[in-house]
Amino acid sequence: MCGIIAYIGYRPALPILLDGLKKLEYRGYDSAGFSVMGEKELVTVKRKGRISELEKAVDSSATASKIGIAHTRWATHGEPNEINAHPHLSCDGSIVIVHNGIIENYSVLKELLISEGHRFTSETDSEVIVHLIEKFYRGNLESAVVAALENVEGTYGLAVLHRSENKIVVARKGSPMVIGLGQNETIIASDAVAIVAHTKKVVYLNDNEIAVINGTECIVRKLDGSMITPEIQEIRWTAGQIEKRGFKHFMLKEIFEQPEAILNTLRGRIKDNRVKLSLSVDFDRVKRILLTACGTSWHSALIGKIYFEKYAGIPAEVDYASEFRYRQGIIDENVLVVVISQSGETADTLAALRKAKTAGAQVIGIVNAVGSTIAREVNSGIYLHAGPEIGVASTKAFVCQTMALLLLSLWFRQEKRLPVSDAFIERLFQIPAQIGKILEDAPQITRIASEYSQKQNALYLGRGISFPVALEGALKLKEISYIHAEGYPAAEMKHGPIALIDENMPVVFLATNGQVFDKVMSNMQEVKARRGIILTVTDRENKLLNDLSNHIFYVPETDEDLSPLLNVIPLQLLAYEIADQKGLNVDKPRNLAKSVTVE
Ligand code: M6R
Repeated sequence: MCGIIAYIGYRPALPILLDGLKKLEYRGYDSAGFSVMGEKELVTVKRKGRISELEKAVDSSATASKIGIAHTRWATHGEPNEINAHPHLSCDGSIVIVHNGIIENYSVLKELLISEGHRFTSETDSEVIVHLIEKFYRGNLESAVVAALENVEGTYGLAVLHRSENKIVVARKGSPMVIGLGQNETIIASDAVAIVAHTKKVVYLNDNEIAVINGTECIVRKLDGSMITPEIQEIRWTAGQIEKRGFKHFMLKEIFEQPEAILNTLRGRIKDNRVKLSLSVDFDRVKRILLTACGTSWHSALIGKIYFEKYAGIPAEVDYASEFRYRQGIIDENVLVVVISQSGETADTLAALRKAKTAGAQVIGIVNAVGSTIAREVNSGIYLHAGPEIGVASTKAFVCQTMALLLLSLWFRQEKRLPVSDAFIERLFQIPAQIGKILEDAPQITRIASEYSQKQNALYLGRGISFPVALEGALKLKEISYIHAEGYPAAEMKHGPIALIDENMPVVFLATNGQVFDKVMSNMQEVKARRGIILTVTDRENKLLNDLSNHIFYVPETDEDLSPLLNVIPLQLLAYEIADQKGLNVDKPRNLAKSVTVE
C-alpha cells in the first residue's frame, strides 16, 4: 500500500527519495510524487503510474535540495491520477504533506475547511490534513501539526514540510513510520526497506507520537506534549537481501530461499530434541486457541489448528481477522489468540490483536517483519527470521509460519509432559534439504505450466492437512496469473464444483500418502470420468495414480503432518511459471498491495 520516504541531511535529497520510492514499489502503488525545497518555493512533482514517469518529470529546480518528502499512493479515496497523488499542498503552497492511512472524518472536515475559505484540489481524504495544518500554523510547524491531528479521526503515517522551516515533522497513528538515524542525515520511511541502504540505526515511532527532525537531531514527543526517549534499534538484515541477486523476480528468489528461511525459523529453537521458545504464556489458563490472520497467513493458521489439536490437545479455531474484529466472538482470559502476519502491519490483523487484548486474552504473534506494529503490540511471539519478503505473493513466509506453528504446538505438548518422538524431529530437520530437492526439479514445472497458462480456471483439491495447501495454491495462481482458481476439500467437490469439470478444467490434486490417499484417488476418478485435466502432487509411486494423472510431480516422502511444507513448493512454482509465461508483472500484480494497511 502507500509508501513514504523523506530525507533531511547534507546530500541532495532527490536521488535518495527516488531510490526509496523504488524500494517501496513492492508494496503496490498507482501514482507517485515528491516535494523538495527549491530556491525559494517548494517544488512538487507528481505522476500517475510508475516511478520511471516521475523520474522523467524531474527538472533542475529540484536537484540541489537537501530536504524532501515523497510518496507512492495506492488509491482509496479518489481515482489514481496526478491530482490525487501525494504530496498535497496548502492553499498558499507553503506546507506540504504525504500521508498513509485513512482519515475517517474527512468529509466533515473538508466541508468545514471549504466554508472557511480553503480550496481543495484533490478527491483524497489526505488533503484535509494539509489544510488543517495551514489553518493552525502560527510560525511553528510542530504545534500546527499537533493541533491538526487533534481534529482528525482515523489512521496516519505522516511527514510534513514547511518552506520556511528546515525540518521534517513526522507523526504516526496506526500506520508505520520508521526514522533512520544516519551520520548528519535522517531518512524517514514507512518501511525500513527504504532505509537500510543508508543506516541500520532506527527508531520505530509508536502510535500518537510525533517527531521533529532537523538532520542532526530527532526529538520525539507524545501528541499530548510529554517527552519520549526514543529507543534506537538495529536492523539485522542487509540491503543485499532486498535485491534480486540474478533471479528474474523477487518471488522466484524468495521461493528458492525457502530452505534457508526454514532453517532460520528453526535456528536455536530445538535443542536436544526439545523445542525452546521464550514466550510469556500462562499455560494453565489456556483452554482454547484462536488463530487469526488474513490471506496466506490465514492458510497457515488452518494448518496450525490441526497441529494444536493433534500435538497440544487444545481445541483450536481459525478466524479471518477481518471477521473476528467485528464479530461478537467468545474471547476471555482463558483463550490464547495467535495472530499471524508476515508484514506485522495488516490493518485487520492488528485490529483483531487489539480486540483480543481488550477482551483479556493472552496473545502471541507469529510475525516476519521485525519491529512491526503487531510484533511490538503482542505480549510475546515468534519471529520467522525469513528475511524481507518483497514479492507481493507470499511464499517463504507461508512455510516459515507453518513451521513456527508446528514448533508452538510441540512446545505446548512438552508443557503437557507429552512425548515428541526423536524421529519426528529428525524429519523436521530434513525439510530444508527436501525443499532443495523439489527446487532442483523446477524445470519440470516450467514444462507443465506451458500447458496450463492459457486456461481460464483451475481447481485445487486436497484433504485434511492438504486442504489449506490447496487453498494456498489457488490463491497463488489467481493473485499473479489472474486465472480464476478455487481451493476445495477434495471430498466436497461432489457437492458442487464437480459441475464445473470438463476437458478445459485443470484440477490440481494433492495426493499425499496417508489415511485419505485412496479416497483422494476416488475423487481423481470422478474428475477423470468427466475428462478434467489432472495434475497430481504426490509422494507415492502408484500405478493407478499415474494412469489417472495427465501430469505428476513427485515430492520427497515425509511425515504427513510436514507435507504442507513440501507440497506447497510445486504450487508456488506453478503459479510463478504460468504468470511469467503470460508476461505478467509477477512481483507487483494488479490491484494488490504487499501490506494491506487499510480496512
Ligand atoms: O502481512 P500479512 O501476512 O498480514 O498479509 C496478509 C495477506 O495480505 C497476504 O498474505 C496476502 O494474501 C498475500 N498477497 C498472499 O500472497
